[in-house]
Amino acid sequence: MNKQHCIVVRKSGPLEGRVRIDGAKNSVLPIMAATLLCEQECIIEDVPKLRDVYVMIDLLKTLGAGVEFSEDGVLRVDGSKVDKWSAPYELVRKMRASFLVLGPLLARFKRTMVSMPGGCAIGTRPIDLHLKGFEALGAKINVEHGSVEAVANELVGERIYLDFPSVGATENIIMAASLAKGTTVLENAAEEPEIVDLANFLNSMGADIKGAGTNTITIKGVERLGATTHRVIPDRIEAGTFMVAAAITGGDIMVDNIMLEHVKPVAAKLREIGCTITEFENGIRVQGPDSISNTTIKTLPHPGFPTDMQAQFMALMSVANGTSVITETVFENRFMHATELARMGAEIKIEGRTAVVRGTPKLAGAKVDATDLRAGAALILAGLVSEGETVIGQIHHIERGYVHIENKLSQLGADIRRIQQI
Ligand code: UD1
Repeated sequence: MNKQHCIVVRKSGPLEGRVRIDGAKNSVLPIMAATLLCEQECIIEDVPKLRDVYVMIDLLKTLGAGVEFSEDGVLRVDGSKVDKWSAPYELVRKMRASFLVLGPLLARFKRTMVSMPGGCAIGTRPIDLHLKGFEALGAKINVEHGSVEAVANELVGERIYLDFPSVGATENIIMAASLAKGTTVLENAAEEPEIVDLANFLNSMGADIKGAGTNTITIKGVERLGATTHRVIPDRIEAGTFMVAAAITGGDIMVDNIMLEHVKPVAAKLREIGCTITEFENGIRVQGPDSISNTTIKTLPHPGFPTDMQAQFMALMSVANGTSVITETVFENRFMHATELARMGAEIKIEGRTAVVRGTPKLAGAKVDATDLRAGAALILAGLVSEGETVIGQIHHIERGYVHIENKLSQLGADIRRIQQI
């Protein structure tokens, strides 16, 4: 019989204590893909033990890389024996970020074939910007039978303008351009901190990338990249999730191991709704208010409010005083959690890309499903302040992005546990 795990959350008092944030999922995945550019050993530190990381490890191994992942989060990737340039459907379908191997494989082997990506079902997530970038660098692209094939005699630097500052396309193009001939100038590039982390990693291997973190990135191609050691930046979305946990329970949490700059948009919103925020070295203390004020949120590319925090804030707004308006501009269908929150008594109306959330004093525990990664986090947060018991299914989504979230929350005083259902 198929045994599935669920997370059971009961109404919990104010959460209090200190929590350490893990390395960033969205940094480590492109960095792992970038190790394919290097024919020596790369050492990556503070790698979170996440489902998505294990998928990427399998993918790197399938391509021929030697991979060792130690208990203390140190990942060693030896790219010297990578001899395959095709990524199989069984792995790529599990995670959209698998598509990030396309740029490195194309740069290294001048040909690659990767299945169309999977991942969270949050609207149509095309890959046209990635492909346009590769074409501009000289690749011929062929999309057939659910796979993308890219072939090039050589990659040559170009001026590329992205129609939208896509995070993945920016990363894929930077990686391909790192070993291209000449200079690539990427305009309207994504400015997310994870792009900066990737560029720092590549530069530490010998790449020549300038401007990461701004909307214009210049990549001078180099002949080869060599061994390096790199520590991944902390996960600003995991940090934001714990900051909301303090806010929603009226608690007092020291969120440790973060980069203050990276959580600014979330901290600003939390201050606005009544939290007291104090910064300390590599951390932030969030004290939740007695009563949560309503607000307006619009997701935007960095440094705007992150789409990956939208679901958690919807849970928070569900118990705020008054009506809040949330506009999702990054993804076209990222409100699946609204239906699940409604099962718990939240009053949410969706119109196109806008959610109108009428705060209610009481939510009630229910049986709900994590429809995607951040939706799952939102349901846990709502469960912390709901009467009775909330049982969350489909938690494999949550495991993609949070390392033992139930343990971290219970150490802060939450009544939460994982159970196995038959
Ligand atoms: C990354 C993050 C994800 C986050 C998202 C936006 C990783 C592994 N994942 O995803 O957690 O929610 O950034 O901050 O880092 N688009 C196109 N064409 C393309 C590529 C994207 O139209 O070729 C659109 C997408 O459909 C979406 C928007 O651009 O509407 C943003 O996507 P993108 O920035 O590429 O997100 P990901 O890199 O997939």
